[in-house]
Amino acid sequence: MNTTIGVGILGAGTVGGALVARLVDERSSIAAKTGLDLVVRRVAVKDLNKPRDFVVADGVLTDDRNSVIDDPEIDLVVELMGGRDLAGDLVLAALEAGKPVVTANKELVASRGPDLIAAAERSGVAFLFEAAVGGGIPIIRPLSESLAGEPVERVLGIVNGTTNFILTRMAEDGADYADSLAEAQELGYAEPDPTADVSGADAAAKAAILASLAFGTWVGLDDVYHEGIDALSSVDMAFASDFGYAVKLVAVAERLGTGVSVRVHPVMIPLDHPLASIRGATNAIFIEGPSVGELLFSGPGAGGAPTATAVLGDVIDAARETLAGAQVAPRIRFSPGDLVPFGDVPTKWYIRLEVDDRPGVLAQIAAAFGSAGVSIKSVWQEGEGSEALLLIVTHRAREAAQREAARNLREVEALRNVASVIRVESDEP
Ligand SMILES: NC(=O)c1ccc[n+]([C@@H]2O[C@H](COP(=O)([O-])OP(=O)(O)OC[C@H]3O[C@@H](n4cnc5c(N)ncnc54)[C@H](OP(=O)(O)O)[C@@H]3O)[C@@H](O)[C@H]2O)c1
Repeated sequence: MNTTIGVGILGAGTVGGALVARLVDERSSIAAKTGLDLVVRRVAVKDLNKPRDFVVADGVLTDDRNSVIDDPEIDLVVELMGGRDLAGDLVLAALEAGKPVVTANKELVASRGPDLIAAAERSGVAFLFEAAVGGGIPIIRPLSESLAGEPVERVLGIVNGTTNFILTRMAEDGADYADSLAEAQELGYAEPDPTADVSGADAAAKAAILASLAFGTWVGLDDVYHEGIDALSSVDMAFASDFGYAVKLVAVAERLGTGVSVRVHPVMIPLDHPLASIRGATNAIFIEGPSVGELLFSGPGAGGAPTATAVLGDVIDAARETLAGAQVAPRIRFSPGDLVPFGDVPTKWYIRLEVDDRPGVLAQIAAAFGSAGVSIKSVWQEGEGSEALLLIVTHRAREAAQREAARNLREVEALRNVASVIRVESDEP
């Protein structure tokens, strides 16, 4: 005997459209497997005249988004519109009306998570967001449930497929940034306006969510330092490879002393690290804990079908809880914690300098680093005369000291340009 659960969906674009199609096409197989008859009651969209890849009964598709919240036959609401204000208000209204909510909206969770989780707790219903990070990769549930007892030390994530696609093209084919971005746009991996992806902002929202769940301290969107990939050049990718590294845009969330650091920036990562081999639009999240050791989760981080799978898993989970009839407690509680400012984080720098190759230049550059308290691990010179490049890798020092060293370099007369800076991830000091 199957139990009917009325589902209301806000948004039927890439993810919502794929979800509606799955709910309609796989209704009987889902019921056979779970005992739940998930019935799509309403699907709210902006433009009723747009062609859709799914078929629903007359009256199900609507441009009246409030009806999804108000319909008494809807037991569970799925938000797949995107954005934080309107979507957030609708999610809040649904939770306050006692309806569980599932969303894939990282921006919403990262910016309004605590309020929405509190509203869900007041109503005793679920608020689930597995698809908000890593698309089809199960990572929210493993972090907040399976690893609830593990004092996670560090999470490293390649959580933006667009940038990983671009970096893979640059590294493997020597393509420059602009051409790789254009190709990503042609193939549909990058939006016409790619700013959110290439600036690291999209990855920062995901980093905030991963860190919050890993450490049980709420990390807001504005707490995450982020840098993008638009300043990277294929020259650095080639040097990185010669030195045994891959360059990746990495979301880093780690415990530092009693605090937590969360940041997103390009990282030179050793070629034998599991994240170095993550190619193309694939996403991967690498977790380190003292008891569990190292875990790697990888797979498709975006796309309608994979993301809809993660959403569907949450829908089934929330429907089961609805049926159980109990008050649902939040999966995780957050306690206050210190966020370590990026300036205090120990980092290692790779820095590429364009210099005039003259006697005494190296000594002046070493002095610029030394006076900031940064010691140099290694120096390579490429080219000669006015074409010379110096590639420097520093030892670990506070990020603020590394920046002070970079400022000191401006005093070196023979320095023509600080061409690039990439942080280096390695176990060495
Ligand atoms: N795309 C992915 O691969 C992916 C992966 C993980 C997470 N996500 C997240 O999933 C969410 C949805 O992404 P998406 O790519 O599916 O977006 P999308 O293709 O742009 O679809 C958005 C949907 O919301 C509807 N909508 C927008 N504003 C509305 C309004 N004011 N009233 C009613 N409906 C409205 C649109 O209606 P129309 O169809 O009429 O325009 C459309 O159906 C976002 O939060 C995104 O970050 C996406």
